[in-house]
Amino acid sequence: MSGRSLSQDRRFLALLGRTLASEGEYAAEIEGTIPPGLRGTLYRNGPGRFERGGVRKPLLLDGDGMVQRFRIADGGVSYRNRFVRTDKYVAEEAAGAYRHATWSMRAPGGVLANIGVAKMRSQAGVTVYPAAGRLLAWDEVGLPWAVDPDSLDTIGEVSVAGPEALRVRRGKVTLKAHARFDAHSGHWMLLGVEYGPSMVLHLFVQDRDGNLLAHHSHAMPRQVYLHDFLATESHVVVLLHPLVLSPLPFVMGTASFVQCLRWRPEQGMVVAAIDKAGHDAPLLLDAPAAYMWHGLNAFRDGDSLVVDWVGFDAPDHFVGPDPALAAIMEGRQGDGRSAGTVRRMVIDLARRRLVHETVADGNFEFPSVAPGQSCRRHRFGYVNSAGCGDPFADGLARIDTVTGDVRAFHFGPGTHVGEPVLAEGEGGEAWLLAQCLDGAGERSFLAVFDAGRVEDGPVARAWCRHHLPASFHGSWVPAP
Ligand SMILES: [Fe+2]
Repeated sequence: MSGRSLSQDRRFLALLGRTLASEGEYAAEIEGTIPPGLRGTLYRNGPGRFERGGVRKPLLLDGDGMVQRFRIADGGVSYRNRFVRTDKYVAEEAAGAYRHATWSMRAPGGVLANIGVAKMRSQAGVTVYPAAGRLLAWDEVGLPWAVDPDSLDTIGEVSVAGPEALRVRRGKVTLKAHARFDAHSGHWMLLGVEYGPSMVLHLFVQDRDGNLLAHHSHAMPRQVYLHDFLATESHVVVLLHPLVLSPLPFVMGTASFVQCLRWRPEQGMVVAAIDKAGHDAPLLLDAPAAYMWHGLNAFRDGDSLVVDWVGFDAPDHFVGPDPALAAIMEGRQGDGRSAGTVRRMVIDLARRRLVHETVADGNFEFPSVAPGQSCRRHRFGYVNSAGCGDPFADGLARIDTVTGDVRAFHFGPGTHVGEPVLAEGEGGEAWLLAQCLDGAGERSFLAVFDAGRVEDGPVARAWCRHHLPASFHGSWVPAP
C-alpha cells in the first residue's frame, strides 16, 4: 500500500463515505435563482450508511441505499431522504450489527456463514428509476425495491424479469443495477449475469408497463464483472472487459465478491452485440483492453451500431494494490491514475468488424444524455470531470460527440461533483443538475447549470443543511 494521505484541500472527500444517519424533509437554502421553467423532481440513490456495530465497510461503493428527492418548483427546492427498508436493512437495524454479506464484505460467522453463491443481500443503493408507474431502487443483488415517489417509504420488492424473477431473488442470476430505456418504443431492457461453468448473459426486454416481451440467454467466452451495458433500437451491446472473476474463493466463503476480481489487460476486450429479438447469435468482436463503468449512449446508424462510453485504460481506482475507492474509506488517497475518456465504437454488423476512437480526452465519468435520446441518436453527452490522476471530480462538462468540443466548468479542488442529470423544460430549455459537496463548509448542494452554457458555472445552488454521502445515480421526473 502507498498509504498516501489526501492533501489538505482534499481531506473533505472522506465525507463521501461518512454515514448520514438522519432522515427528513426541509426547504433547501437557495443561492442564485432557480429558473422558473425548471419544475419537477430529481431522485438520487447511493449508499448512505457505511458502518454498524463498530464495523466499517471497506469500499465506497458498498452501503445501504438512501434515496433522495430534490423537488423543484416555484424557485424553491424541497429536500427529502429516506433509507430503503430492505430485508437486510431492517434486520441489521434491529440487531445493531451487520448480519449479511454484501459486495465487498463477508457476513460475520466465517466460512460457514458465507459458503454458497446466494449469500449476498440487496442494499438497493445504486440506481433509482421511475418505471411502470413506480419508483424503483436497484442494486446488483436480487430484485429492485419500490419506494413511494412522494414519501420515499419502502413499498417492497418488485418482480421483474418474468419467470426468472425467482432465480434473480435467489441470487442465481444477478441483474445489473443499470437498465436501459428506449425513448422511442418505451421498452426497458435489463441485463442479467449468471456465473457458472461459463458466464451466461440474460437479456430481458419489457414494455413500458413492465410486461416481459422477450427473454433470451447467451453463453459468453469469459467470466467477468460488468456494471452497465448499452442498447440501441435493435441490439444490446455488452463490453466484456478483462476484469476477470475467479469465483471459487467467493463460492467457498473465504473472500468477498470484489476480492475475486482481477484486471487482466493482456486478454483484451470482447464486445458482444446481442440482437434484441433473439433471432441471431451474438456477434463477438475483439477490441483493445479497457474498463467501463458506464455507457454514455448508443444508437443504430444503418448497418452499424454507434456506441459511446467512458473507458479507462485500467480500473486502478477500483481493483489493484490500493484502489482509491477503498483508500477513501480510511481517509487516504490511494491509486486512481487512469483517466476516463469518452470513447466511440462503431460496430459494422454486416462486415462483422469494429472500429474505435477517442471522442474527448480528459478525465470523465458518470455519462448521461437527454432522456428523450436514450437508445437513439444523440449529439451531446454530459459527464463529470476530474483533474489529471484524480478519481474524484470537481467539475462537469458537455461533450459534443460530433466535433469533440468539450465545454467544462470546474469548481476547484475544494468541491466534489457527482453525476450530472439533464432536466428539460417545456420550452426546449435544459438544465444540468449535479449533487456537489463543498469541503469548506462540509455541506452539500444541488448545482443547477444551463445545459447549453455549462462553462458559465451554476445559475443556482440549493444548499442542504449537512453533507450528503456519495450518491451515484439519479433520474429526473418532470412536473405533470
Ligand atoms: Fe453505475
